[in-house]
Amino acid sequence: MRQKVTKAIFPVAGLGTRFLPATKSIPKEIMTLVDRPLIQYAIDEARAAGIKEFIFVTSRGKGALEDYFDINPVLEQALRKAGKDALLETLKATNMESGAIAYIRQHKALGLGHAVWCARRLISNEPFAVILPDDVIAADTPVLQQMVEAFEETGDGSAMVAAMEVPKEKTSAYGVLDVDEDMGSLVRVKGMVEKPKAEDAPSNLAVIGRYILTPKVLQNINKVKGGAGGEIQLTDAIAEEIAKERNVYGYRFRGQRFDCGSKAGFLQATVAFGMAREDLRDEFTTYLEEMMSLRKAAQ
Ligand code: G1P
Repeated sequence: MRQKVTKAIFPVAGLGTRFLPATKSIPKEIMTLVDRPLIQYAIDEARAAGIKEFIFVTSRGKGALEDYFDINPVLEQALRKAGKDALLETLKATNMESGAIAYIRQHKALGLGHAVWCARRLISNEPFAVILPDDVIAADTPVLQQMVEAFEETGDGSAMVAAMEVPKEKTSAYGVLDVDEDMGSLVRVKGMVEKPKAEDAPSNLAVIGRYILTPKVLQNINKVKGGAGGEIQLTDAIAEEIAKERNVYGYRFRGQRFDCGSKAGFLQATVAFGMAREDLRDEFTTYLEEMMSLRKAAQ
């Protein structure tokens, strides 16, 4: 019987230095797009894909994340008393079933591969997902769900990474796929390189932060030495699968990805999600139009 993907790892140990001073006292995953923190988007996507267990790889100073997924009796009581049922309903998305969420500390910032490896004891012999909450993807069908469906369709239990075309000069910000066979939404990969310079990049198909991995990839991480930037790279551990003559797939998802690890990406996501919200759309769009015409008039 094929195994279902029911666990997801969320690497959230990063310092978020690109958003200092905000991230001096709040985890970057708590920063909000409109009114939901980045981590909520990631959790909602995981739930839609059938994930039942949520594993956070954290670090010092991430306590606000743990509180976020805890019940807040004082707040709930105050809302109930005030008859604010809609807000109480909104809070439900932050509630986790007892035992469904686990926190593991990554004591040293040794890289994404190492962060995932820190969760190894919580992953038994089954495929699992990895979601990088910095990559927020607006999609009709949530991207991890698209991938779980594709994973079940290939049926060979091979690792799969989300992939997207990027401009060649941007490859040094990504893991990049060396494509063996392009089958449309699915590509068979014959190599993967972490953050190559444009001239060394095997393609412009970049890895985006959604993965379905196997316990074998975890075993590879054990052996992977420091890669790009001296860090233990997840990309290298996945590429190791290919060296062992196992398949790895890239999956071209349907959706719009925002790099919320960068200020420009975060602002773009704020605009896009603001405009997509029915309760804000009219007022917000009118404001943006005014801003644009003022800018044009000034030019
Ligand atoms: C990580 C991965 C990289 C991937 C990227 C997607 O890099 O190491 O392979 O392309 O996420 O966002 P980071 O952005 O953490 O440097």
